[in-house]
This record gives sequence, C-alpha cells and structure tokens, in this order.
Amino acid sequence: MKSLNLALRLLTPAERKTAMLLMPLIILSGFSDMVGVAMIFPFLKVLGEPEIIQANSYLSAFYTSGGFTSADDFIFFLGGAFFVMLIATAGLKILTVYVANRWLEGRIHSLSKRLLTAYLQQPYPFMLQRNSSELVANMLSETARIVSQVFRAFSEFVVSAVTLIFMVALLLVINPSVTLLAMGSFSALYAVLLLSVRRITGRLGQSILSSNRKRHRLAMEALIGGKQVRLLNRERTLVERYSQPSSEYANANALSNTVRMAPRHIIEAVAIGGTVLMTLILTARSGGTGSAAMANILPTLGVFVLALYRMMPAFQKGYNASVSLRLSSASANAILDDFRSAENLPPLPSAVAPMRFQKSIEFKDVSFRYPGADADSLQGVTFTIAAGMSVGIVGRTGAGKTTLMDLILGLLEPGSGEIRIDGRRLSHSEIRAWRANVGYVQQDIYLSDATIAQNIAFGVPEADIDTGKMQAAARMAQIEDFILNELPDGYGTFAGERGVRLSGGQRQRLSIARALYPEPEVIVFDEATSALDNATEAQVMAEISKLAGTRTLIMVAHRHTTVRDCDIILTLENGVLTSISDYASLFEGGSHITVAAGG
Ligand SMILES: Nc1ncnc2c1ncn2[C@@H]1O[C@H](COP(=O)(O)OP(=O)(O)OP(=O)(O)O)[C@@H](O)[C@H]1O
Ligand SMILES: [Mg+2]
Repeated sequence: MKSLNLALRLLTPAERKTAMLLMPLIILSGFSDMVGVAMIFPFLKVLGEPEIIQANSYLSAFYTSGGFTSADDFIFFLGGAFFVMLIATAGLKILTVYVANRWLEGRIHSLSKRLLTAYLQQPYPFMLQRNSSELVANMLSETARIVSQVFRAFSEFVVSAVTLIFMVALLLVINPSVTLLAMGSFSALYAVLLLSVRRITGRLGQSILSSNRKRHRLAMEALIGGKQVRLLNRERTLVERYSQPSSEYANANALSNTVRMAPRHIIEAVAIGGTVLMTLILTARSGGTGSAAMANILPTLGVFVLALYRMMPAFQKGYNASVSLRLSSASANAILDDFRSAENLPPLPSAVAPMRFQKSIEFKDVSFRYPGADADSLQGVTFTIAAGMSVGIVGRTGAGKTTLMDLILGLLEPGSGEIRIDGRRLSHSEIRAWRANVGYVQQDIYLSDATIAQNIAFGVPEADIDTGKMQAAARMAQIEDFILNELPDGYGTFAGERGVRLSGGQRQRLSIARALYPEPEVIVFDEATSALDNATEAQVMAEISKLAGTRTLIMVAHRHTTVRDCDIILTLENGVLTSISDYASLFEGGSHITVAAGG
C-alpha cells in the first residue's frame, strides 16, 4: 500500500483523473467476461438435461418467445450466442488494452519530460553535483521501468480483479460453499507467498537501480572518452568494468522476474489439483459415478473450471503487482526526490528579455564555496568594471578564474557579498535576464551534431535563425572564410558529434561566433583563444578589440599577450584578488595597485 501511494504520487492530478476514467471501460470488459462464462451454464445444463427447458420458467419463456421448435435448435442457438458473446468480449478487451496502453506509454513520455524539465529548472551547481548519466538513466530507463512494473502491473491487476469480482459473484450464486473454500485457499496461498518474498524484493529493487546507473555511467565513459580510451589501451578494461554492473543488473532482473512468475506455477498446480478434488467430492456426494445426479454435476463443474481458469490471472496479477511495486519503489523514490527538489523552483521561462546596463558591474566582498568543498574558491573579492571596459583576469591554475567568470555570468551566486549592476544588487530573480545579456566563450565548447548555422545560433529553431546576425558573428570570430571556402555545405555543414569534424581552433572560433550571435553587452572569454596559433589569435583579438568600448569584455588568459590591450587586469591568487592594475605596470615593471585581501 505504501509503495502504491508512492507510485501514485508520481502522477499529476490530471493523470490520476484520466486513470480513473479508464475504470468504466475496465468494469464493462470484466462484466462481459462474466456474461460469457455464465452463458456456458445454461448451455451445458440444456445439453445434459433437455427437459429443463420446460421445467425452468425463464428458459421456457425464452424458448416460446424465441419461436424455437426443438431442443436441438435451442441448444444450437445457445451455442451460437455463446460464440457471439466471446467475440464481443474479445473486441471489448482489445479496446480496453489499447486505451490502457495509450495511457501507460503516455506516462513514460510525460514522466521523462517532467524529469528533464525538473533537471533544467535546477540552478547550474546542481549539474556539478550530479552525474549526467545518472540523470539520463532516471529519465529514460527508470521511468519506463516504473510504468511497466508499477502502472502496467497494477492496471492489469485491476482488470483481472474486476473479472474476479464478477466471477466470484457468479460462483456464489451457483455454489457458495465451494466458492468460499476456493477463494479462501487461493488468498491464503498468495498471502503466504507475498510475505515470503517481501525481504528479497526490496533488496533486488535497490540492486537493479544502482547497477542500472553504473551501467549507464560506464557506457558513457567508455564511448565519450574516445581518444583517451584507445591511446591508453583501456578498451578491454572498460568492457570489463562495464560488464560487472551489467551482469549484476541482468541477474537481479532474472531473479526478480522469477520471484514474480514462480507462484503462477504453484497456483496452477493447486488449481488443477483442487478441481480434481472438487470433482471427487461432488461425485461422492451425489452417490457415485453411475448415479443420475451426475448430470447435475457436469454444468457446475464446467462453470467452476472455466471460472477458476479466469480467476487465476487475477490472483497472479495481484501478486505480480504487489511484488513489482516493491521492486520498483527504489526507482520511484529516486524520481520522486528529483521531482520534489524542483517543486519550488520557478518554471522554465520562454523568452527572457536581456537586462541591459549602463554604468558598471561591481563585486562587493564576494566569496564563493562549491557545494561540498571545504574551502572557499573565492574570498572577499571586490572590484568595479565600468561599462565598455576590457578586463583581463590572470592567475595560476586553480586560482579561481573560472569561478569568478561563472559568478559574473550568473551561473553561480555569491555565498556572501554581492554583485551589483549599475549600483543595484543583482537579485536571484534577475539572474536569467542578466545572463541573457552576457556572451560566454568557454575553454571546452559544446558543439552539437547539427549544422554550423545551428551551432552558431545555438538552441534557436532553424527557421528563426537570423542569417545577417549569424554571418556578422562568424565574420567577427574570423571563421566565415573557413565556413564558406572549406566546408562542403558552408553554413549547412554538419559539425559531427561534439564537433569532432572540426579542429580545436575552428571549434573555438565557432564558440566565439556563438557568444556573439545574441549581441550581448558583456562578453566573457575563458581562455577562449588558447587553442589558436599566434597569428589567428592576433586576428581574433584584433576583431574582438574592435568591440571594445561598445561592449564590456572580460577575458581570462594564460598568455599575457592576450590581455595586452585590456584596460585593467585583475590578478587572482588562491581565490583572493591580489591586484588590479594595467598591463604595463603588471608585466613591464611599472607601479601597480595592490588590493588588500578580504576587500
Ligand atoms: N565543482 C567544483 N567543486 C568543488 N571545487 C571546485 C569545483 N570547481 C572548481 N573547484 C575548485 O575551485 C578552485 C578554483 O577553480 P577554478 O576552476 O576557478 O580555477 P581556474 O583559475 O579557472 O584554473 P584554470 O586556470 O586551471 O582553469 C580550485 O581549487 C578547484 O579545485
Ligand atoms: Mg579555468
């Protein structure tokens, strides 16, 4: 029950409602199933004892009003009606199955879409803490498992439970004591089975969830690590590492499927044995084989055998549903946690108007610590950048340059201190608008396997790409000549997965073009030109410096020459801003301003 509740919480109220709308169809299909079974009773009765047509008031009324002339005709009619009923029931069941499948597959779709939304609603640091392959596993694998193991198993149980109720009603009319006995022993048997597998199912569910995640992570590592994997000769090791969780996953699934299916065979044996036993009891009670009363037993027996046959799946599916619920409660919990953690986050915005600024970007005593880290990566950083300035940021590796950029970009938010735009504190709710005004050229650009045009206008639907803006951006990034003269389809050429068909320098210039496309007022370069040769870097920097004055440029660089033209240079050491100066004073021995640590 607890696990069912857990699963139901994965659905939206609207989805729960549509699930309820399925019920009438399910009940109707169960009802027609019962009528089909019930109809075999008069058929067999009349077959064994034709005199009953006259003796039974219902049958005789039906016989006369139907204009039947002989018992044989009547029997043929009953047989025919039985067939029609069977076909109608089959049709109704197919319809029910279709509607149910539509609902179920639709839940895989909506659960994974809601998860993706929840993940993207999370602020950027979320991605630093979670493994992306685990998120993919949740989205694509666990949602499908929950739908098939929980919702499908449960809906199948409901379908057969409805049948069960009608069957029991029918059997109670025919022979209450045998019915109660059969029901009681069936229920007891399943209850015992359920209790005995309780412990193992919870454990199996955990094992399936964790091995599936590992499987996904290792598959991604092996395939994304392309060059490294081959150079280091790690192919075999990776296959072996993958094989461990993969076989754990297979074994856990094999065991869980067995736990789910095994009772069926036990119950089948019990049902068949029980039928034989019941036959013997009824035979003994009616005075042995040769007796006349045997003709009465036959129809009862027929109905019972057929009804038991129809009831068995209900028990089996009820058991299956409760075992499956327990098996997948680990997955359901994982997904529910992810939904919950995004519950109070603002919805994803459609278009965000950039937040323009006139005067300055100011850092006041800003400190930042990564979640889970035990030291600040930035400490008491204070500086002011005037609009239109170009700013260089230098410092040793690990000094906090990228962290500072991410704060300027609004990807990270200060742990303490504040960022002010035009003298006003940048609030959490304005961060998206601020980001829309900042272009970012990063060290390792992510190129998608799409056309050059789509990579420059990243995330913009193809039809909405502004060709003029795109070409201007490519020109400024010194990549237009290459695109037009060397790529087979110009802007329509595909870049390959993660841009593998381009050189590092070409990728970097594309990254610059991408940052320039939305025409941001602030452009941040994180070692953006490090993959370029000196001549190309000089060209790119010359183009970029043409933007100086109209745009605010902030660049992190290892090469001092890159920041030569900057108006001011910030030096970081171990997360502390140690100096603000210009190029001449920093690298050519002039005097420079030193900033006291702690702001
Ligand atoms: N996600 C993270 N979680 C915890 N610590 C981090 C994280 N990212 C960076 N750090 C730490 O923060 C410090 C600053 O890192 P940052 O990436 O800002 O350095 P950097 O100056 O850009 O170095 P580089 O020149 O090598 O790019 C480093 O000590 C690093 O270990
Ligand atoms: Mg860095």
